[in-house]
Amino acid sequence: MKPHKRHGRTGTAAPVRLRRFAGLVAMPLLCTALVCSTGSAPAAQPTTNTLVIHADRGTNTISRMIYGHFAEHLGRCIYEGIWVGPDSPIPNTRGIRTDVVAALKKIKVPVLRWPGGCFADEYHWKDGIGPRDTRPARINTHWGQVIENNHFGTHEFMDLCEQLGCEPYICGNVGSGTPQEMMEWIEYMTCGAESALANLRRQNGRIAPWRLRYFGIGNESWGCGGNMTPEYYADLYKQYATFVKDYRGNRIYRIACGANDFNYEWTEVLMKKAARHMQGLSLHYYTRTTMSWPPRGSATKFDEKEWFAVIRNALKMDELVTKHGEIMDKYDPQKRVGLIVDEWGTWYEPEPGTNPSFLYQQNTLRDAMVAGLTLNIFNKHCARVKMANIAQMVNVLQAVILTDKEKMIVTPTYHVFEMYTVHHDATLLPSELTCEDYTYGDEKIPGLSVSASRDGTGAIHVSICNFNPSRPAELRCIINGPKPKTVTGRVLTADTMTAHNTFEQPENVKPSAFNSAQVTPDGFVATLPPKSVVVLELK
Ligand code: AHR
Repeated sequence: MKPHKRHGRTGTAAPVRLRRFAGLVAMPLLCTALVCSTGSAPAAQPTTNTLVIHADRGTNTISRMIYGHFAEHLGRCIYEGIWVGPDSPIPNTRGIRTDVVAALKKIKVPVLRWPGGCFADEYHWKDGIGPRDTRPARINTHWGQVIENNHFGTHEFMDLCEQLGCEPYICGNVGSGTPQEMMEWIEYMTCGAESALANLRRQNGRIAPWRLRYFGIGNESWGCGGNMTPEYYADLYKQYATFVKDYRGNRIYRIACGANDFNYEWTEVLMKKAARHMQGLSLHYYTRTTMSWPPRGSATKFDEKEWFAVIRNALKMDELVTKHGEIMDKYDPQKRVGLIVDEWGTWYEPEPGTNPSFLYQQNTLRDAMVAGLTLNIFNKHCARVKMANIAQMVNVLQAVILTDKEKMIVTPTYHVFEMYTVHHDATLLPSELTCEDYTYGDEKIPGLSVSASRDGTGAIHVSICNFNPSRPAELRCIINGPKPKTVTGRVLTADTMTAHNTFEQPENVKPSAFNSAQVTPDGFVATLPPKSVVVLELK
């Protein structure tokens, strides 16, 4: 099999030739239950893969904001999934579900984007302040024309962020709002002076201004946010951004609406016309079974063909971030403007029997693979990617949490976010992976995805995805720099590709200890189970 060379590094070291591994190849193979099974079915032969980690280098920080989330007024994300109201029998703190907050705290949510999505461009913030029983009922025109009672508004969102200990990221209304409305919202939230709007906030129960760092100026302005051309939006962006003021003590990071997946022209025009006025530019990409809309394919009923297709399509994120990044480099070689991937994740046909406008879908081991490989890609591009937000947090698309009335479960994707917290604000270590391909039919993709970082204590963490659903992967690693003395790890895998957690069986898929890695004189060697996500800690 032809090895597939992948470069997960951001530096400029020359590719390492396989013969450099001669010393390692002579070492005894790790004998795990997987590769030395004596059962009747012959165990699959492991693939052979090599990795070099430059632990003696590394200059770029993996912003923890890459591990961000997104919650929209869509289906059962905000209402039911997060907000149940203070009078609900479901345990809550000021109306916000206690169980959901407790679970989210464990994955150290760093930032939360709200209120949309498409909803953001029809949201008028004044509808969501003041006594809840006097707030107006509106129609959520984009998501099923359901009644939006506005019970979850600015104060409730900021309370949620404070309960989670995360940064708020608010997306403002360009499509159906005005610059004045946007300007007033910022003043209401962040101004500490004795102005009428700041006093209205105090009257509504919040004395001190909130700290608001991240503010988006419109969502998908090329589509649901107004069907604009990039030239028209770039002008509008500059107009609206001018009125997003920095009140004393608060400095806003203005995020312009960026491209949909492969629309490179949008990035070109925005960077050319407006880069000077922005701190971030967004990008949206959803992984589907096929590249068409509406998404086809079930979240839970699929074969290896669809397993392969979804992983292949998720890997396109690397190409997207690279190419949009190259355009940004032309206008911003210092990488001052962050690429903000503020919507990403899998999108399948909605769960049978649910409202199709609510985008509720289950979440399997395949989604965990997508999360693992996508986060590895963002880590690799952390010099440009400054934030990312998985869509969405609860009950919508690639959710980390699913709820059913008082019941709550966490998904395989949640477990990847929990396992990857070790990369938050760590230093990216350049690495070079040489791996066998994973072939399906006449198509092939790299068999592994890897990312390595060093945290503040000096510990090295390596996250690895083995995409192959039937073959283990042997990974031999050379670490340049101080050699580790110990290796420990955790693994997320399951017997089947479609394994998922249900309200009846909430722990079908969960991480366990990983014991198939050993330190070597040069680094480590590990044998990864088929279809697994592994995170190693080396000290
Ligand atoms: O996340 C669901 C929707 O996908 C968002 O509202 C929109 O921005 C995107 O098209």
